[in-house]
Amino acid sequence: MADKKIIAVVGATGAQGGGLVRAIMSDPTGPYTARALTRDVNSAKAKELAALGAQVVAADIDDVESLKRAFAGAYGAYCVTFFWAHFSPEKELAEARIMAQAAKHAGVEHVIWSTLEDTRRWVPLSDNRMPTLMGKYKVPHFDSKWEANAVFTEQGLPVSFLLTSFYWDNLIHFGMGPKKGADGKLGFTLPMGDKKLPGIAAEDIGGCAYGIFKKGREYVGKTVGIAGGHPTGVEMAASLTRALGQEVRYNEVTPEAYRAFGFPGAEDLGNMFQFKRDFEKDFCGARDLALSRALNPSLQSFDQWLARNKSSIPLS
Ligand SMILES: NC(=O)c1ccc[n+]([C@@H]2O[C@H](COP(=O)([O-])OP(=O)(O)OC[C@H]3O[C@@H](n4cnc5c(N)ncnc54)[C@H](OP(=O)(O)O)[C@@H]3O)[C@@H](O)[C@H]2O)c1
Repeated sequence: MADKKIIAVVGATGAQGGGLVRAIMSDPTGPYTARALTRDVNSAKAKELAALGAQVVAADIDDVESLKRAFAGAYGAYCVTFFWAHFSPEKELAEARIMAQAAKHAGVEHVIWSTLEDTRRWVPLSDNRMPTLMGKYKVPHFDSKWEANAVFTEQGLPVSFLLTSFYWDNLIHFGMGPKKGADGKLGFTLPMGDKKLPGIAAEDIGGCAYGIFKKGREYVGKTVGIAGGHPTGVEMAASLTRALGQEVRYNEVTPEAYRAFGFPGAEDLGNMFQFKRDFEKDFCGARDLALSRALNPSLQSFDQWLARNKSSIPLS
């Protein structure tokens, strides 16, 4: 253990970071060990990570001194922000800046920054196909992550930019699972038309990140997009039908209708799906399935993810 390089993992008790800690710790002959960062070292999830053999340390990404301590002596750092905890792109940017400062201070040799596209490259603010949100964004939780790329490069950090995909786990945790319509039939609602939606099991993101770390410097300075599949809404509904043993129809809605659903973040997500729909070729093209599988050989397809998780999907 003593000769292993440490990878400090932000969000270790969450989806992306948790997957990375588990990937590292399930490879006992590998070159790394995980340091799990959490605000509460005594939580049940933190204790689960400690039981795997990970170091568990206290850190808050709003507190640079806590992060400097947590990154000290680490070879690598996995950096992620938590947009849905606060809905603020400015806060994401500030938190990325704190993580970059701490990584620089600690002399971290490889940072993976969990990022997304700047949708304004494809849909400038002047393009009225979708509303501008919060004054200067089209998809706030995407655009802010891309803006934060510069925060890492300006520090001169050796950074890999990881373009993640839609979590299939959103069907469990984000209210995006099939819902019963007035006719009692299950419908799976997306504003994607007949276009493909790159998706991934959230757990597999960490496995892909581990694959990037294992490649040493190969992906430093590079952008890597990952997905476990590129199914259409119709294909996802067919997979759900097979897995659940009851008919699930694809309930195609317009991005306008989706934005008007009114739940917190509905406009951001409506714009996001519209961006993915309208720029399918670029968005899918940036998320190569063969590369994702090469980085993470246990990468799941949507069908495989469903086989393991169907009983956790709330059907209402
Ligand atoms: N849902 C999707 O489809 C999707 C797709 C692509 C990208 N994303 C992006 O993924 C990001 C979230 O990542 P995730 O899903 O892995 O998060 P998550 O599962 O919600 O995990 C959040 C974890 O981060 C920790 N945390 C929260 N605030 C913190 C803070 N101030 N300092 C330190 N730790 C903190 C919490 O741990 P403790 O309580 O233990 O501290 C929590 O367990 C978002 O920015 C989102 O935009 C989501």
